[in-house]
Amino acid sequence: MTTEMALENITTELKNEVLLITINRPDKLNALNKQTIEELHETLVEAENNKNVRALIITGSGAKAFVAGADIAEFANFSVEEGKQLSSIGHFKVFNFIENYSKPVIAAVNGFALGGGLELAMACHIRVASANAKMGLPEVSLGVIPGYGGTQRLAQLVGKGKAFEMIVTADMINADDAFKWGLVNYVTTQEELINKCFDITSKIVSKSPTAVKTAIKVINAGYNNKQNGYEVEIEEFGKSFGSGDFKEGVSAFLEKRKANFLGN
Ligand code: COA
Repeated sequence: MTTEMALENITTELKNEVLLITINRPDKLNALNKQTIEELHETLVEAENNKNVRALIITGSGAKAFVAGADIAEFANFSVEEGKQLSSIGHFKVFNFIENYSKPVIAAVNGFALGGGLELAMACHIRVASANAKMGLPEVSLGVIPGYGGTQRLAQLVGKGKAFEMIVTADMINADDAFKWGLVNYVTTQEELINKCFDITSKIVSKSPTAVKTAIKVINAGYNNKQNGYEVEIEEFGKSFGSGDFKEGVSAFLEKRKANFLGN
């Protein structure tokens, strides 16, 4: 079944229990303005509450860009306070929101992923890039620094040394280097990009939604300096035994049948 919901700057399509979100401002290389951040947030909230959505894929419209960053024209005259707001609202509504989302989110990086665009891809749980993709955090060229989590997540993904180099030189890297450095999980042709993402989500949607949600939470706990990831794992591992999905998953294995998970 396919349903469609139209917003101004993004389009969505539900297919095989996966919501494909396309950021749709191709004439501005899908730059993230305030409205796009709001629309992404609304869509994410709605999809979180929709049991028919089991995973998300985020991509950019057109063949040129995933997202070329925050909308530079929009923040050009911002004050110190407005700059801080821009960053904190973005963290809260989209970037941290995606990282801590209860369902896996895959970034289909189909071209330029710069600044906020790369930060959006890095907030996602898995990244797949097309061979033409170019990735970088060029903020220092504009006299600012990455403000949507880039200073933290890039170092987590590629290590501190490469993160320092990418951020202070503002250099872009290509898809092959991004793959070698662990910034993206796969590189495909542009034509195959979305199919590859759907291949990954087809595996996810057959698994226990409860366990998948818990796994995201526990992996993230290890990157949260207020939590001890191992302790959270012990706690959540124990809790798994109380879920309906656990009973179904184990029964299905022992009865040699396919599990029918209800996400309970
Ligand atoms: N914010 C606002 N508008 C943007 C944008 C951004 N981050 N990135 C691209 N655009 C707009 C351009 O202003 C241009 O609009 P116009 O046609 O109305 O003039 C349009 O998108 C096409 O971009 P253009 O620069 O003409 O394409 P290009 O192929 O020459 O260059 C890039 C592509 C990605 C190298 C270049 O657009 C770029 O450097 N963008 C900014 C990247 C950046 O610094 N991001 C971090 C922001 S914090």
